[in-house]
Amino acid sequence: MTPRDTLADGLTRARERTLRLVDLDDAELRRQYDPLMSPLVWDLAHIGWQEELWLLRDADLARPGLLASDVERLYDAFQNPRAKRADLPLLPPTDARGYCRTVRNKVLDRLDALPEDALTEDDADFTFALAVSHEHQHNETMLQAINLRSGAPLLGTGTPLPAGRPGLAGTSVRVPGGPFVLGVDAVTEPHSLDNERPAHTVDVPAFRIGRVPVTNGEWQQFVDDGGYRRPQWWSEPGWAHRERVGLSAPQFWNGDGTRTRFGHVEEIPADEPVQHVTFFEAEAYARWAGARLPSEFEWEKACAWDPATGRRRRYPWGSSAPTAHLANLGGDALRPAPVGAYPAGASAYGAEQMLGDVWEWTTSSLRPWPGFTPMLYEQYSQPFFDGAGSGDYRVLRGGSWAVGADILRPSFRNWDHPIRRQIFSGVRLAWSDDESEDQEGGS
Ligand code: AVJ
Ligand code: FE
Repeated sequence: MTPRDTLADGLTRARERTLRLVDLDDAELRRQYDPLMSPLVWDLAHIGWQEELWLLRDADLARPGLLASDVERLYDAFQNPRAKRADLPLLPPTDARGYCRTVRNKVLDRLDALPEDALTEDDADFTFALAVSHEHQHNETMLQAINLRSGAPLLGTGTPLPAGRPGLAGTSVRVPGGPFVLGVDAVTEPHSLDNERPAHTVDVPAFRIGRVPVTNGEWQQFVDDGGYRRPQWWSEPGWAHRERVGLSAPQFWNGDGTRTRFGHVEEIPADEPVQHVTFFEAEAYARWAGARLPSEFEWEKACAWDPATGRRRRYPWGSSAPTAHLANLGGDALRPAPVGAYPAGASAYGAEQMLGDVWEWTTSSLRPWPGFTPMLYEQYSQPFFDGAGSGDYRVLRGGSWAVGADILRPSFRNWDHPIRRQIFSGVRLAWSDDESEDQEGGS
């Protein structure tokens, strides 16, 4: 495919996904399922508005747009906190759909009209990819909202996934110490976002990291051992939060061995990565397990570095694009895959399921890499750096089952407050290296 066809295809597939998620009646689309999430019709028009702004107005609000200025203001995420979005005079669903369609047709016309060399030479290609990434990111947010909805399920139970392999839970792989290249550049990853750039060398001491994410079965042992009742495992702010909201298990666990997932009540699968835990719970679990969480440096090294070549791999498994055989991505499964489901997706160090399944909490706060330059969408990363704004964000890595396969890279950084767990968040453990324990598999 030409770069033009790849972009057009990416835009089209993201839009097909959006339209499937909003294939609901008007009343449903206007509902707010939880104060943490937007009504779905807000996400829909917001996707169209950002696309119009970036691709048809050069990110310049002063340039006239298709919506009246008082209407377009409703879709600015910074001016309208999520909890208030259901009370806004939002575009009715039919108008929102029509607006998105009009914008998209103009965008595709623009793409068609661009000379092929302009596409790759002056970053035009990046701006289209940004719109694709943004739309997929909102699709994941919409899935978080639908998962919080009570009542009869809107979605099925998800598409089939490969079987897991036994014996992997609790095992680890060793990553020897030494420098590696953290982050990427526009040359190697032209669609990478501002916070992933620039590539630079970082030295990391030897460590071990979970071969797979922590499972529900392991987490059940933490619950059974009184993990949620013993402050000794928790940080001070973590324990205060646990007490304030009364956490006693991951969100959506029902206390009788079942969980609710997109409205379906089902047995909790023991071999599936645990989901819907806060950073604070992840930290407590790790301490209970005699481990800790990885930093995002450690995480990225374990995911992308190839010690044999002294270079980064594009994906944990090599250079080929993700497939259903390599990682659980794209959103159709509606759940993580059991641990061991993707042996072919292992990183150079043998860590599996680094991409897809669950976002993995790290100890790192969101910080710019040295030499950071904001992209066209200046508000994407910068307002969240280092405790700016509402403060206190932790980085999550690796993407969940809900992430669009064509937007994810080992360098991709997500972030959220340490108390959030409606996101598809899970845990991978790490251990500082103990030289005496040098064999694979022990932990
Ligand atoms: C990168 C997931 C934290 O949802 O706040 C969407 C993505 N930014 N529109 C968010 C985003 C603007 C962002 N996260
Ligand atoms: Fe957005």
